[in-house]
Amino acid sequence: MKFRIGDREFDRPCLWEEDGSTVIIDQRFLPFSVVLSRMRGIGEMVNAIKTLAVRGAPSIGAFGAYSLSQCISKGEDPERCHRDLITSRPTAVDLGNALDRVMEGYREGGVDGAVGSADSFAGEVVESCRRIGESGKKLISRGTRIMTHCNAGALATLDWGTAVAPIRMAVREGNTPFVWVSETRPLFQGSRLTAWELSQEGIPHRIIVDSASGYVMRSGEVDMIVVGADRVCANGDLANKIGTYGKAVVARELGIPFYVAIPWSTLDPKTSEGDLIPIETRCGGEVESCMGKPMSNPRSASFNPAFDVTPSEYVTGYITPDGILDVHDLREKMRSLMQ
Ligand code: MRU
Repeated sequence: MKFRIGDREFDRPCLWEEDGSTVIIDQRFLPFSVVLSRMRGIGEMVNAIKTLAVRGAPSIGAFGAYSLSQCISKGEDPERCHRDLITSRPTAVDLGNALDRVMEGYREGGVDGAVGSADSFAGEVVESCRRIGESGKKLISRGTRIMTHCNAGALATLDWGTAVAPIRMAVREGNTPFVWVSETRPLFQGSRLTAWELSQEGIPHRIIVDSASGYVMRSGEVDMIVVGADRVCANGDLANKIGTYGKAVVARELGIPFYVAIPWSTLDPKTSEGDLIPIETRCGGEVESCMGKPMSNPRSASFNPAFDVTPSEYVTGYITPDGILDVHDLREKMRSLMQ
């Protein structure tokens, strides 16, 4: 991912391991400042996930893997660190998949096994997302109007992105699309993070409030929707940022293709259907205020589900590292993972 700090240009993933700790681009401060934070103990690591300093399913997975392997290297109790990390955010399955991988590496090869497993998980995330870009770029011609939601870019995946990878890849080949970015209340991952990533690379885009999505689609301004996912279960149902389901329903009503871009680390073949996915409910304060400023009637309570579930029948295709799959191919892949 290319980004600038002052006059200097960087090409780095959104987090990396350095001297036994993990350095992250702290997503709480974007787009107003690019702050690099160094995460050391388990408390800091768990807090970084809970507060969305690190966010996006594959990034949480890679960060969790590095965190667990570093704690193990420092002689901390692996089971306790695993428990603290796995309970930090419940919906994105990449975290559990990554932590399982590190524990398996540790059981088989001790500290070196844990460290090697974390490295290989992170490496696979980057390579999977690059291949998602290769798969999805075929859908994009010059000027294709794509709507996306939340941030499924490099910040969410170390590099490339899931939904954003095909866009980046198409731009490199001269097929620059136009991107509608929905702001993604209450934490603005769309208007803060996706818009920041796109503007760093000069990709044309415009931000809309979430509730403008239906209007913009019905006005004939959207050729396709591409989103990421936090968990795709055995039947192809998926959880993604709150607001995804509404977009999928409107897209189907209007005949607009709806694609979901996913690396294999986001698959959960053990959960049979979407209604069984644990949905994170976050603190109401995120709805009631914005950047520390109260935004709602102080005597009213709020409800803040962070994700929703989109049934597989709304999905036109799953953009994967191995091509664009329909729901039947995806279910077959899930069955093969269970064998
Ligand atoms: O709460 P967040 O910001 O972690 O939610 C992230 C999303 O919903 C993304 O769309 C999802 O993780 C896919 S990112 C590749």
